[in-house]
Amino acid sequence: MQFSTKRGAPEMRATPCIAVGVYAGRKLSAAAGALDRAAQGALGEILRRGDMEGKLGSALLLYRVQGVAAERVLLVGLGEETELREREYREAVRAAIKAAQETGAGTLTLCFSDIKAGRRDANWKARQIALVAVECAYRFDYMKSKKSEPRPLAHVELLTVARDAAATGRGLRQGQAIGAGVTLAKDLGNLPGNICTPTYLGEQARKLAKEWKIGLELLERKDMEKLGMGSLLSVAQGSRQPPKLIVLNYAGGRKTAKPVVLVGKGVTFDTGGISLKPSPEMDEMKFDMCGAASVLGVLRACAEMKLKLNVVGIIPTTENMPGGAATKPGDVVTSMSGQTIEVLNTDAEGRLILCDALTYAERFEPDAVVDIATLTGACVIALGHVASGLYSNKDALARELLAAGDEAYDRAWHMPLWDDYQEQLKSNFADMANIGGRPAGSVTAACFLSRFAKKFDWAHLDIAGTAWKSGKDKGSTGRPVALLSSFLMKRAGK
Ligand code: BES
Ligand code: MN
Ligand code: ZN
Repeated sequence: MQFSTKRGAPEMRATPCIAVGVYAGRKLSAAAGALDRAAQGALGEILRRGDMEGKLGSALLLYRVQGVAAERVLLVGLGEETELREREYREAVRAAIKAAQETGAGTLTLCFSDIKAGRRDANWKARQIALVAVECAYRFDYMKSKKSEPRPLAHVELLTVARDAAATGRGLRQGQAIGAGVTLAKDLGNLPGNICTPTYLGEQARKLAKEWKIGLELLERKDMEKLGMGSLLSVAQGSRQPPKLIVLNYAGGRKTAKPVVLVGKGVTFDTGGISLKPSPEMDEMKFDMCGAASVLGVLRACAEMKLKLNVVGIIPTTENMPGGAATKPGDVVTSMSGQTIEVLNTDAEGRLILCDALTYAERFEPDAVVDIATLTGACVIALGHVASGLYSNKDALARELLAAGDEAYDRAWHMPLWDDYQEQLKSNFADMANIGGRPAGSVTAACFLSRFAKKFDWAHLDIAGTAWKSGKDKGSTGRPVALLSSFLMKRAGK
């Protein structure tokens, strides 16, 4: 998808399709009013005849509107004018793009700059338009023998006023870079477990590193043995696929500036191991590497935006399989930190690989560490598919991430990490157990990780409910690439 900005009057714009908004109660937006005047009231008449109420998400396509230079006029419902906030703005943009995709138009000209999105500015609006457009254009047909026909719509043009032109252009470029990161994360998430193995993720990281001049180190099993990553390796030992530890180094900041470290859970398939999961929906455990995918996606976005900061991405990646060599419930393993862990449930494997990756993060003397993981079913019960669970040992960092989530419309919710919950991890046989029982399952998982994050400011995003969709729209969402991108952009001073 290509993007551009244009200035000028909507009625004069010779374009295959021009989209303007209509508020609930058949009220024309400013741009729609301009078209209506040029067409001598033709739009108002159509509304009066009852063909369009202005309901949010609705769209009406018109051809050959006299006095208007565009080939097609697309009326897009905006809903109540006073209720137009971020979600509604995005919804209207989505409706416009979806409707335009059903036509033969190669270019859609959007006149949405005069429409309110809460208190968001032109930069935000343009960024969101690009993100929504990239999302609407997304397809995953690599695994189908018949590829879908390419859609005609390949170009979205934003009509702006002079005052907003620079911010709009910047927003489009940012949205495009973040959108490419989201797309990368989705593609990796959607690939099946027999293709997207730890080795495959390593190769994709290598490709990304080469293309965007990012440093790469790929640690093999023997390297991890030398480092004493007994916890990570205990998850990998049931699988035929060799585990990897991918370390990416994006150096956009000053040499001496401490990096932000992102750690992504990369379980390319989670059967549960000996604590085997039930069969229904087990296929969805191919998405258990979406944390890893989001790290690759956000690093791509950072590189494309040339953010002036240093970011290290660490991806522990493995399968979690049952087998003759697999870890058994009750086994005790020693983590790289020296702390011992009684593995009471081999299905609580995410924390076992993340804890060693967190210890490894210490060597980068991080300014902050954020891990991203499809960690617990309990988080899905707590927050559903709307918000990611956010935990942190530093309130200021939590606030930064919450604000980034709000801005990106990729939201998180702050969850407690109180010491009272730590008791649930007590083990009679080791320093800790890897599970804390049914109550507050997402919290105790975060508590477990916190024991390996004592040496730096750290936050944890449990994305179990937000990283993919189930049912007829089954597929990866690319979250939280947008949240993390906003977070890093702010840190880089953008
Ligand atoms: N990858 C799963 C978490 C998960 C489950 C995400 C369902 C999305 C949907 C994780 O490895 C896991 O199995 N967690 C267990 C932990 C339990 C054994 C303490 C869970 O949530 O059931
Ligand atoms: Mn599991
Ligand atoms: Zn898992």
